[in-house]
Amino acid sequence: MTARLLDGKALAARLRARLAERVAALPFRPGLAVVRVGDDPASAIYVRNKDRAAQQVGFLSRTLHLPATTAEGALLEQIAALNADPAVDGILVQLPLPAHLRPEVAIAAVDPAKDVDGFHPLNAGLLASGLPGLVPCTPRGVMHLLAEAAVPTAGRHAVVLGRSRIVGRPMAQLLLAADCTVTIAHSRSRDLPALCRQADILIAAVGRPELVRGDWIKPGAVVIDVGINRLPDGRLVGDVAFPEAAARAGFLTPVPGGVGPMTIACLLENTLEAALARRGLARAAA
Ligand code: GUN
Repeated sequence: MTARLLDGKALAARLRARLAERVAALPFRPGLAVVRVGDDPASAIYVRNKDRAAQQVGFLSRTLHLPATTAEGALLEQIAALNADPAVDGILVQLPLPAHLRPEVAIAAVDPAKDVDGFHPLNAGLLASGLPGLVPCTPRGVMHLLAEAAVPTAGRHAVVLGRSRIVGRPMAQLLLAADCTVTIAHSRSRDLPALCRQADILIAAVGRPELVRGDWIKPGAVVIDVGINRLPDGRLVGDVAFPEAAARAGFLTPVPGGVGPMTIACLLENTLEAALARRGLARAAA
């Protein structure tokens, strides 16, 4: 079997074009503020890409770049100012933060109505309760990819590798809401290959290069690779051994060009939703 590729780059471009049309028809411009602290090189690239994508769909986007030595109190003051700014609909604090700053404190300081990352405990709690709220961007992007490929979810066994706040946990909640039977596996789980072999839908989000081998995959399964890992030789690979997986899976996301572009498109969707909800307008259709 040769897997069909799920082209996140193309789907993200279509989503962004649709968002741009909707923004052009609005009597206001949604505002996104991205906070970056310190000089993590990967974060610099991610933030630049988010800012550029936001501008391209017609948002007002601004980046606040704070020095690596910023004290927690000063960061919280900046977040409070963005919470109070009526022109700002979405606030994103780029992670990781420098080691002296507690990410959970920064995240909890963001107004939940502007929490376009969906990381605030209120939004995480709404998702875990099966209630509407702002949903983390990467898992939301994965659900778009599954829908685009018309992958049935009801009654299917989804195995999520990874339990992070950013991907694994919210991913499991969204799959549960889509009526999957969900297993969350992680670094302490026993016999990962056997767990993965049970998956009709396998989501790999552990940040371990090419951990998932071809023989971990049930023939015909849908395999979504959230990992982006740089190898010492400079190659970019996912959490799934791509050539082996392509020979077994029914559907497979490439790295790069799979989940990555969907994350940014969903950040823009969340920002538009937050902008509409803050003005008492209807929520955007997911
Ligand atoms: N760092 C890696 N992924 C993300 C993300 O989705 N949001 C934020 N804020 N930081 C990240």
